[in-house]
Amino acid sequence: MKVTAIGTGYVGLVTGACLAEMGNHVMCLDVNPDKIAVLNAGEIPIHEPGLLEVVRRNVAAGRLQFTTDVDQAVQHGTILFIGVGTPPDEDGSADLQYVLAAARSIGQRMTDYKVIVDKSTVPVGTADKVRAAIAEELARRGADVAYAVVSNPEFLKEGAAVEDFMRPDRIIVGSDDEQATLMMRALYAPFNRNNDRLMVMDVRSAEFTKYAANAMLATRISFMNELALLAEKLGADIELVRRGIGSDPRIGYQFLYAGAGYGGSCFPKDVKALVRTGHENGQDLLVLAAVEAANERQKRVLSDKVTARFGQDLAGRHFALWGLAFKPNTDDMREAPSLVIIDELLRRGATLSAYDPVASQEAQRLLAGRQGIVFVDRAEAALPGADALLIVTEWKEFRTPDFDTIKAQLKNPLIFDGRNLYEPALMKGLGIEYHGIGRAAAV
Ligand code: NAD
Ligand code: UDX
Repeated sequence: MKVTAIGTGYVGLVTGACLAEMGNHVMCLDVNPDKIAVLNAGEIPIHEPGLLEVVRRNVAAGRLQFTTDVDQAVQHGTILFIGVGTPPDEDGSADLQYVLAAARSIGQRMTDYKVIVDKSTVPVGTADKVRAAIAEELARRGADVAYAVVSNPEFLKEGAAVEDFMRPDRIIVGSDDEQATLMMRALYAPFNRNNDRLMVMDVRSAEFTKYAANAMLATRISFMNELALLAEKLGADIELVRRGIGSDPRIGYQFLYAGAGYGGSCFPKDVKALVRTGHENGQDLLVLAAVEAANERQKRVLSDKVTARFGQDLAGRHFALWGLAFKPNTDDMREAPSLVIIDELLRRGATLSAYDPVASQEAQRLLAGRQGIVFVDRAEAALPGADALLIVTEWKEFRTPDFDTIKAQLKNPLIFDGRNLYEPALMKGLGIEYHGIGRAAAV
């Protein structure tokens, strides 16, 4: 089939590349010429495991191309995915300007039947707005062209985006157009594996499903983070509690890890947007508002532990920081807890040496002009002379480090672990003072 992906970010690029992998002819459009230049030079603008290989293979096979030419891109696809950003507005609601601009650019140019797919995470009712924007553009130029707007939210996780797209748990399609539904079924048939994973529902329910999924996952995390804080007070170990409750299949093990707070481009903004939607509709979401508040607090827990140990004034203190990205296997720094921690420590006068396997460049760009932080290119290089090591992202290479080196290089054998990577008893045996999240029993 002929597919156009509008927006070549995490979602648009992965969607385009993975659909090309199944034999579709895909054109990826972006308004950012730098991104398209990188892609046309055979590279990718983001760190996403496995993506470069899929992109290169499909470009070589002539099934995947990149352009900034809107005419060409709209002409190309019968199915057009809108995968542009939906960042938070000042009041927390999703900013639809990019989605609606993409819709208008389609309406201004289309000359034959198109299925327009809302892939971006958008509030309930957005498909109606997209449909209306296209209708307005068609009317403006007196064109009468049939089209359908469907919702197909994306559930991929960064760092595992290709795997998630190729092997989805479910494929949600919100559609009230029979032809469009059949085309979406055909497009996604190769992703079903042994079992029909595609669920067709009305458009509003599909749009809502995406927010409900992210809100549920964020709730689990904030819930565990809050229990972790209490566990510290009670002398219980949240890791043991996690295993104890996760073994109940009604609860399950996933997304129960207490940590330094959730970040990323989705949970924070989607939770905010859903809270806002509730408020606008006279249905305040009390649980979700608390999820957000708990997360804001959680992002400060690690720096609070530092000040509890060293005092409020950190002038003259130096800390090693491992992990900048909001999660492992990505260079995405959006809403990363590390930014809050860095800001707090620098504000209190500390200096920092920071290391991340792939996100340092992006962190440097975001923190340009901030004094007191240097970026190093090996984990060990962050350690010498530091008063303590702070771990903020659970990259695999931090899981079994050389603890002798850590002890030898740090000024004090002291670790603040925002991702609970180590066993407190082991740390105690090694003579390392260890502060995890919710693991009071071991300190
Ligand atoms: P992104 O910021 O990485 O990429 C968006 C891209 O769209 C940018 O490259 C931008 O230049 C481009 N763009 C903006 N307006 C355009 C236009 N009119 N025409 C063409 N290109 C345009 O965003 P993302 O992380 O891929 O997220 C996109 C959407 O998908 C958001 O709604 C997000 O909530 C949702 N989503 C993201 C993830 C994720 O893990 N990142 C997962 C699921 C859903
Ligand atoms: C999330 C959703 O998982 C995905 O389905 C959706 O499409 C986009 O948003 P992503 O933001 O890429 O994906 O990463 P995810 O693995 O969900 O992690 C989000 C944040 O939660 C990270 O900061 C991570 O560290 C944190 N997290 C995750 C925890 O603190 N504890 C956990 O148990 C799991």
